[in-house]
Amino acid sequence: MKIDVLTIFPEFFREVFDFGIIRRARIAKIVEINIHDIRSFTTDKHRMTDDRPFGGGDGMVMKCEPIFNAIEKIVGTAERENYPAGTRVVLLSPQGKVFKQSAAKKFADEAKHVILICGRYEGVDERVNDALVTDEVSIGDYVLSGGEPAAVVLADAIVRLLPNALGSETSAVNDSFTNENLLDCPHYTRPPDFRGMKVPEVLLNGNHAEIERWRKEKALEKTKKIRKDLLIKE
Ligand code: 6GU
Repeated sequence: MKIDVLTIFPEFFREVFDFGIIRRARIAKIVEINIHDIRSFTTDKHRMTDDRPFGGGDGMVMKCEPIFNAIEKIVGTAERENYPAGTRVVLLSPQGKVFKQSAAKKFADEAKHVILICGRYEGVDERVNDALVTDEVSIGDYVLSGGEPAAVVLADAIVRLLPNALGSETSAVNDSFTNENLLDCPHYTRPPDFRGMKVPEVLLNGNHAEIERWRKEKALEKTKKIRKDLLIKE
């Protein structure tokens, strides 16, 4: 998979993709991630990436021209209809569809080239949405000052689901949200008694059927307690 990030803050991404699973996946060439400065696609003297909104109002709006230029260069065309198969152009914005594990899985399974456009929170010229964007995505119901942290969230959630990204010692199959909309169960490691806090006996007895039953029960208990909404699902 290839991931290209369009941002006015390229420095923001200097090290975030250099750790853990994402770093390993990059080294193993499972994914290639490139960061692009939107400003480098401007053509005017002042290299402007935003401007005042038509019709008035607060805040600035990201200009469409540098974003169109960037997509043209990175994808080969600025016409959504002509994108190569497997191309997804994602606009990160609080107006987008809320990103879920199921969407991460769909990107991992179906996309070959993901372009993440980091919008600033005041807005992006709507013509970017009209002509370029295949998916407008939000990471939750709160406001970020820009799409950059959201781009990191998407890239991480997607890359770890790519074939061979997780080592044999890890697995995505028991992650929260992967199974029947349950949160993951609690985990423990040594020591079995830490400052008087004991690891549940069932985990120490080697009865795997019983352990499996306990894990399922705890996952359900936790989900009921803090994410009831997951259990009443479409
Ligand atoms: Cl993707 N962008 C911004 N600016 N705020 C957000 C968001 C994205 N998702 C949740 N809040």
